[in-house]
Amino acid sequence: MNTITIEVMRYRPQIDEKPWLQSFDIEWTADMSVLDALSYIKDELAPDLAYRWSCRMEVCGSCGMVINGEPKLACSTFVRDYARAGKITVGALDQFPIEKDLIVDAEPFMHKLASVSPYIIRKQPRALAEKEHRQSPAELAKFKQYTMCINCMLCYQACPQVGLNADFLGPAATALAHRYNLDNRDQGKTRRFAVMNEESGIWPCTFVGYCSEVCPKSVDPAGAIQQVKAAAVPFWALAQLKKEEA
Ligand code: SF4
Ligand code: FES
Repeated sequence: MNTITIEVMRYRPQIDEKPWLQSFDIEWTADMSVLDALSYIKDELAPDLAYRWSCRMEVCGSCGMVINGEPKLACSTFVRDYARAGKITVGALDQFPIEKDLIVDAEPFMHKLASVSPYIIRKQPRALAEKEHRQSPAELAKFKQYTMCINCMLCYQACPQVGLNADFLGPAATALAHRYNLDNRDQGKTRRFAVMNEESGIWPCTFVGYCSEVCPKSVDPAGAIQQVKAAAVPFWALAQLKKEEA
């Protein structure tokens, strides 16, 4: 019989002074994910354990956790890969406020996503008579990689600047802005660069690059931020000129 120890972070802010680890010894099988292990623990051993999940297949982005120190999706991380170590420690994405156990408050992240106007902006609405705005495969390829983001927040957990400054716009929101800036149907760059050129916009990034390493969808948010920095300078200069004229 294969057994492994799973240490799970528990925390109820109203009761607990600080997070603590609860240990469970469970039997595991070769196809058991860390999410499956948590489900077993919740069903059989600790019904009050709180964690998020939905799709079980790396699509919804809700099962982000810190697993043996690394930001990972619990549904695509397998217990068998930790068999030799004999222990798995599971914690919350604690660069966000913890609500209960492994559940964190995603509101700050959602505000950052919304702040970059993540939708196609047109100066003039397109008339129906003009029909659809066609896009070639080559035009789509310019930004497709950035559409793969599942909002799992792993890149924020990985980012040292988020740890220093919770207001930092951060990796996924910048990659999302870049996605729309590169879309040939969009005319909203000026609005997005105004946000990204703010003090807590893109500039705190020091290009550590760990955000891209942990990203389960190969979005490469670190690369997006560097491209955005290069493109942002003229928008920043223009904004300074307008301030001086005002
Ligand atoms: S960029 Fe990658 S790590 Fe960051 S939220 Fe999107 S999918 Fe997750
Ligand atoms: S449960 Fe949906 S990404 Fe893991």
